[in-house]
Amino acid sequence: MGFLKGFFGSSDAASTSKAMPFEEYVGAGVVDRNGVPSRIYFSSDRDIDLYELEELCDAVGWSRRPIRKVRKAIVHSYIVVSMWEVRGAKKRLIGFARATSDCAFNATVWDVVIHPDFQGRGLGKGLMQYLIEKLRSQDISNITLFADPHVVEFYHNLGFISDPEGIKGMFWYPN
Ligand SMILES: CC(C)(COP(=O)(O)OP(=O)(O)OC[C@H]1O[C@@H](n2cnc3c(N)ncnc32)[C@H](O)[C@@H]1OP(=O)(O)O)[C@@H](O)C(=O)NCCC(=O)NCCS
Repeated sequence: MGFLKGFFGSSDAASTSKAMPFEEYVGAGVVDRNGVPSRIYFSSDRDIDLYELEELCDAVGWSRRPIRKVRKAIVHSYIVVSMWEVRGAKKRLIGFARATSDCAFNATVWDVVIHPDFQGRGLGKGLMQYLIEKLRSQDISNITLFADPHVVEFYHNLGFISDPEGIKGMFWYPN
């Protein structure tokens, strides 16, 4: 995640990652009363507190989903990535995304979210680039997603193309 490291400063994830399953230091977070910033990390550990994930999804106004189905979706996802704000021993889930895949050619990205307190700082872009890097490292070359209308430009900025060669996403819903 070169661009974020460059933007926020250097990494010292090694000291924290032994105790916590964090992979990469992203940057400085929110400054507290004493002027000390929290730290923001990526993780691809899928052992996430699902109630904390539900809170994150609530914060952006998504409809609630049964926890047991969310657990199943995470277990069966190919890659799960999350973003954490760490202050001392406390960690807070501030971003999440996952991808399903046939493990060879195709992957589809789902549930991309950054907590509103942390939006507009490049973290969503960083999280998506981290996920894309992970998929590319597995030689997955066809990455698709379904964008809500208000975030189409966010994905265009990341290199996603709408309806390439006129291909249309199609949905079937039960009546
Ligand atoms: C969409 C979302 C993940 C973006 O995360 P974010 O951290 O705010 O985005 P970033 O700060 O990384 O933005 C990266 C770039 O995309 C742009 N961008 C971000 N959100 C955008 C939006 N809704 N529409 C258009 N452009 C957007 C930013 O301006 C920025 O552009 P720049 O690189 O030219 O400066 C976040 O707003 C979110 O969680 N929204 C609610 C949940 C949601 O709608 N998820 C998508 C479901 S398909």
